Amino acid sequence: MELFDEMSFNSLVERFLGTRLPSRLSDSLSYTELSPEAKGVVLRLLILMKRSSCPATEFNSQMIWLLASVTPGMLPSAWGGLIPPVTSPGRHKKLDDYVIKKMQPSSNRQPVFIDFGCGFPPVTTIDTAKHLPDWSVFGVDRSFTRYVLYDAAVNYACFNRHGKLQYFQDKTKPLNEHPNTTRNRFNSLFADLCPQLQCVDEHSSATVERNGNRLICNHIRDFEGKNLKFFKSDIDNLQFPPANTVRCMNVLLYFEKDIRENMLSKICTLLDANGLLITGFNHPFGIYARYSVYTKDKNGAHPCEFSFSLDNLRPLGIGPWLTLSDEDREAELLADLTSAIRADRRFWKEFNPYVDMLRTKYGICERDNDGFIHFTEDARNGPPSVIMDKASALWNQLEDEGYTDGAIEALGRAGYQAWKNPVGDITVLPPDESLYKF
Ligand SMILES: C[S@@+](CC[C@H](N)C(=O)[O-])C[C@H]1O[C@@H](n2cnc3c(N)ncnc32)[C@H](O)[C@@H]1O
Repeated sequence: MELFDEMSFNSLVERFLGTRLPSRLSDSLSYTELSPEAKGVVLRLLILMKRSSCPATEFNSQMIWLLASVTPGMLPSAWGGLIPPVTSPGRHKKLDDYVIKKMQPSSNRQPVFIDFGCGFPPVTTIDTAKHLPDWSVFGVDRSFTRYVLYDAAVNYACFNRHGKLQYFQDKTKPLNEHPNTTRNRFNSLFADLCPQLQCVDEHSSATVERNGNRLICNHIRDFEGKNLKFFKSDIDNLQFPPANTVRCMNVLLYFEKDIRENMLSKICTLLDANGLLITGFNHPFGIYARYSVYTKDKNGAHPCEFSFSLDNLRPLGIGPWLTLSDEDREAELLADLTSAIRADRRFWKEFNPYVDMLRTKYGICERDNDGFIHFTEDARNGPPSVIMDKASALWNQLEDEGYTDGAIEALGRAGYQAWKNPVGDITVLPPDESLYKF
């Protein structure tokens, strides 16, 4: 990787994808100035784009912005090594539906669901507890923070028991603009409020409020409910009753291959016989999803399905190729499957221009004479939700029109055993050696 350290972004794009980007795109990303971790993200993205046979013309200004500005601020290196607890409501709605459709209720005991590495605020676990009211739902995370400080605009910051600021998050944007000013502002609010806060024990929360700013101790306790409990624990010392389902989304990708696989084995020990582990990656709102399902039988746990959402085939963002360490097997398998679908002329010849046509019709973007995408003025100037909403309607339309089935048929023609899973995602029987086996 050091070989590429001093190369410009555009030279790297040319090297991996064979074409240079127009300067309006390439000039917004200074590769040499990125941290080593962020450089790794960019390099692996290019390698995976190549592996998925995706041409350089799929690069667009949103992808560059995500690579240059958003992703570096989400990496552990931006937070002193802490894996950010970032999550979002509704992110795993489809996976909750998957569990409802796949798991038969047992008459013997209340089924157990563990959301491992649930993040904070634990919104996906709260969603699950609502979706699965007859289940016992546990949210587990190693770094539930001791103090949470909400400012008057409901942006929040997390502090450890020694009062050290660990993480902060803007309410509306993924990107924390002016991080130093924000950090100082939160530190000074904390210094004001903390002396007035009385924390009794670990099992209950306490709050102090002034001028619309709220400091809460053991805030995680405020989210517990009839069928929902939270545990602060690392995978190494987790003690739980056997779980019918474990979900571990957006966690393992932060770790190097050996640690990742070791964690996966340990998580599988939490599973009951016939239990399911769902693990993988997706973006807020559940887009760009890729996930493996492991099941446990008398021979142990093994991967039985690999699934991905249709939007991975023609993304406007970096999701399908976003990895945080080397040898991410799920991202590699997704790239191989995407490449097979792209190579299927019967499907791709119609699907590819149709996506462009719909994007124009929905007012998202147009392809310019240089072959690259231009976002419409509306999409460029509006809040990010403008593109999100339109893109979500577009992908729903494509699913309704049968393009998921078309992609599945293309995989079948390429020799994969493929089907649509109960929540409408493209699924394959993982080829031998493609996913981690125990
Ligand atoms: C990016 S958040 C993912 C949140 C949520 N699962 C989601 O999909 O939105 C990753 C979380 O995993 C937690 N985590 C990472 N390694 C862990 C470990 N070994 N044991 C427990 N939690 C861990 C981090 O503390 C962090 O809150």
